Amino acid sequence: MKPDLIIETLQASHNRSAFGCGVPALDRYFREQASQDVKRRVSNCFAAVNRDGAIAGYYTLAASSVPIASLPEDQTKRLPRYPILPVTLIGRLAVDARFQAKGIGSALIIDALRRSVQAAPASFALVVDAKDEQAAAFCRRHGFVPLKSRALSLFLPVATALKLFGPEALP
Ligand SMILES: CC(C)(COP(=O)(O)OP(=O)(O)OC[C@H]1O[C@@H](n2cnc3c(N)ncnc32)[C@H](O)[C@@H]1OP(=O)(O)O)[C@@H](O)C(=O)NCCC(=O)NCCS
Repeated sequence: MKPDLIIETLQASHNRSAFGCGVPALDRYFREQASQDVKRRVSNCFAAVNRDGAIAGYYTLAASSVPIASLPEDQTKRLPRYPILPVTLIGRLAVDARFQAKGIGSALIIDALRRSVQAAPASFALVVDAKDEQAAAFCRRHGFVPLKSRALSLFLPVATALKLFGPEALP
């Protein structure tokens, strides 16, 4: 993560109109919907902001759950047989085109992991609903694996993520 970027809770003062990641639906959501979702407490939104106030990227985070039956068997051996497991959902994640390929997408995932670990309710894994194969490839590059029969829904156990990302990810 570049030192001149901070990741903070979405604020009214953030200028979202110039944000463009190349996926119109993600830009529109950020401009028009994100703060409504925060207000209604259906998801939180975090923005990476540079020294000049430009928004380099954002992601959303919400409590969610997955059926244990949707996880590959090799992932459930050490888990209790609860039918439903708590997860943290990264509903949307996007980096402005001017800031892509600088490690900001990775930094947003690590920030989501840190916030998930620090939250009071326990969460077994991060889950991402990738919008297409390219987004899924980005998630797989970060250790996410597909849920059974849902190739575009991927999960990353928090314990695995902490090992993968190292001390940077620790609270
Ligand atoms: C996908 C996206 C978030 C990546 O953000 P980014 O800041 O450009 O990515 P980073 O620079 O952090 O990339 C980190 C690593 O992931 C890799 N990567 C980036 N995009 C990738 C892709 N589509 N497929 C596979 N790997 C990818 C990079 O090569 C890099 O690998 P390295 O550490 O070995 O060099 C960004 O391109 C984007 O906003 N795209 C449009 C919106 C979108 O698809 N969002 C859904 C994301 S789940």
